[in-house]
Amino acid sequence: MTHPQDQSSVVVPEPVVDAARGASRIVVLTGAGMSAESGIATFRDARTGLWKDFDPKDLASPEGWQADSDLVWGWYRWRAELVRRSEPNAGHIALARWQERAHVDIATQNVDDLHERAGATVLSHVHGSLFEPYCSDCGVRAQLDDAAMSEAEADQRVPPPECPVCGGLIRPGAVWFGESLPEDAWAAAEDAVRAADLVLVVGTSGVVYPFAGLPAIARSAGATVVEINPVETEVSDMADYRWRATAAVGLPALVAQL
Ligand code: APR
Repeated sequence: MTHPQDQSSVVVPEPVVDAARGASRIVVLTGAGMSAESGIATFRDARTGLWKDFDPKDLASPEGWQADSDLVWGWYRWRAELVRRSEPNAGHIALARWQERAHVDIATQNVDDLHERAGATVLSHVHGSLFEPYCSDCGVRAQLDDAAMSEAEADQRVPPPECPVCGGLIRPGAVWFGESLPEDAWAAAEDAVRAADLVLVVGTSGVVYPFAGLPAIARSAGATVVEINPVETEVSDMADYRWRATAAVGLPALVAQL
């Protein structure tokens, strides 16, 4: 849990405050950077990224699962355990507070549950969830075994549980490279940005489609797009305003002024 910075010392760009005050429908699109200040590694930040030790196609793909389901299941259990040991940060909490008094939809690429644990409602987990594994054969939802997760290590190979209904292998609830997004999750996110007055894009490198296409859809539908990210990204050119701030510092400061 990051110590909330004294929000009065954070300067929120005036156009961002004005856009937020004037908006009746807000959408917040979040990526891994949203959870970085909770201690959850992002994917592509060079020094800490989750992918620095693993090749995505070996772990987050149907081919990787076919090749070594024990390695893939162990890696996702390890990630779920990291999330369980983490806390929502001040940015997650600020969004939950904002939802109490404004129409704020959250569509996230994140498979963690930190938005929800902060008290927010998530409209759409477009890349699925660590906490909703399901049977790779019959699709029935399964529960993660809490007790068995505590000793999980990133590269520990762990046999996936068997489906109690059909005996197939239970797989992680994340969407893998090459897989299509859950239709209802994608439709909800796309409909929301088309109807939005303001779209905040927080903590994403904007390199993975179709989610990365949402800011352009929002812009073409007339929304104001604001990027909150410490660095330039593939989304930056699409944004009306680029606020070089972090999620846990910027969002609380913004919400405090609304
Ligand atoms: N606050 C805001 N943004 C941050 C912070 C922070 N504290 N720390 C890092 N960032 C930014 C980085 O600058 C980067 O632009 O978060 C972004 C993280 O980018 P990625 O690691 O690429 O994560 P993301 O964009 O969510 O990845 C998209 O790729 O691997 C797949 O399915 C996976 O959902 C994931 C998708």
